[in-house]
Amino acid sequence: MAGFRITGSGRYLPGRPYTNQDLGRIMDTSDEWVRQRTGIEQRHFCPEGQGASDLALEAAKLALADAGRQPADLDYILFNTMTPDHFFPGSGPLLGAALGCPGVPALDLRMQCAAMLFSLQVADGLFRSGAASTILIIGAEAQAGFMPWTNWAALEPGGPKPSVEEYERATRHRGYAVIFGDGAGALLLERTDEGPGLLSLDLHSDGRYLDQLYIPAGYRKRPYVSGEIVAREEHLPQMLGREVFKHAVTKLPTSVRKACSDAGVTLDQIDWFIAHQANDRINETIRERSGVPAEKVPSNIARYGNTSTATIPILVDEMRRDGRLKAGQLVCVLALGAGLNWGAAVLRI
Ligand code: UT7
Repeated sequence: MAGFRITGSGRYLPGRPYTNQDLGRIMDTSDEWVRQRTGIEQRHFCPEGQGASDLALEAAKLALADAGRQPADLDYILFNTMTPDHFFPGSGPLLGAALGCPGVPALDLRMQCAAMLFSLQVADGLFRSGAASTILIIGAEAQAGFMPWTNWAALEPGGPKPSVEEYERATRHRGYAVIFGDGAGALLLERTDEGPGLLSLDLHSDGRYLDQLYIPAGYRKRPYVSGEIVAREEHLPQMLGREVFKHAVTKLPTSVRKACSDAGVTLDQIDWFIAHQANDRINETIRERSGVPAEKVPSNIARYGNTSTATIPILVDEMRRDGRLKAGQLVCVLALGAGLNWGAAVLRI
């Protein structure tokens, strides 16, 4: 039976951190509100001209170096992003070219914040079928492009004041604008002849909740990009935050219990619950409802905000590098995001 090990990891956060006070220059929000409601203190935004594949490249190089591998050793790239460099093609082939391993199959997964769960399942299948022995999983987001302002200079201390129109637009969209940030995480997975690896996975998608978190613009419109679309703000994410919050705190405890029971382990036996970093209050509620001690649910959202597909690999990289995450431990990965897509996986790493 094939399994896999995480043999390398890396992360990349672009530019300088933007604090909640910085966002308060362009919209009506406060450090106190954002900290209390989300746990976020700062986030990074990549500069204009950089895309998900550029951030991924930096994280991928670190993961390969960590594992002592070369780009030529890769059999497959799984590229998770909800902010691809272009409408098409996906960012995976761009990363392969930038890494210097053109020709390696590179699959883009459009599963938003739950993408890591889908990637783990795809990787597991590729290992079991013998199609791959070394797989690079990326989570990378350049979400600055969908922030509801254009005057980036206004975020700088002492910068120009935003126009009334810009301030009002950013404030209308402040619910999502304060939570998202940019970054990339990379995991290198290598096949082993027997476990460890993926022990169980409880995975779901449900498109009935599309309008709770999505970008209305797209190929249903003719043309798919126009001044009218921008004027109607359909190029910006629409999020019913409370509804998504409710889905996360009800669906994820159920998924965690199911994944643990399918893996034949109790929640007590799990060393780490590595949860998507969307909002500290979501993870705190899930933790309480599941009866899990706080020290088993690591958080780094204060520093990075919600980097969507990148939160889990960034957190895994931090925990591997600071020694918290050790080979042989039992880990439960859980996430819910737009789609909706959600679930939980149990792995022995
Ligand atoms: O990763 C993908 C999945 N996404 C998520 O998981 C997001 C899940 N949802 C959330 O994290 C939370 O719903 C938010 C952080 C987005 C919002 O927190 P909330 O506690 O649900 O606030 P709310 O949207 O119910 O808004 C409460 C109040 C409103 O004011 P009134 O109507 O009570 O006067 C909002 O206008 O807070 C106001 N508000 C803000 N105030 C200051 C909303 N956003 C902000 C803000 N700054 N950024």
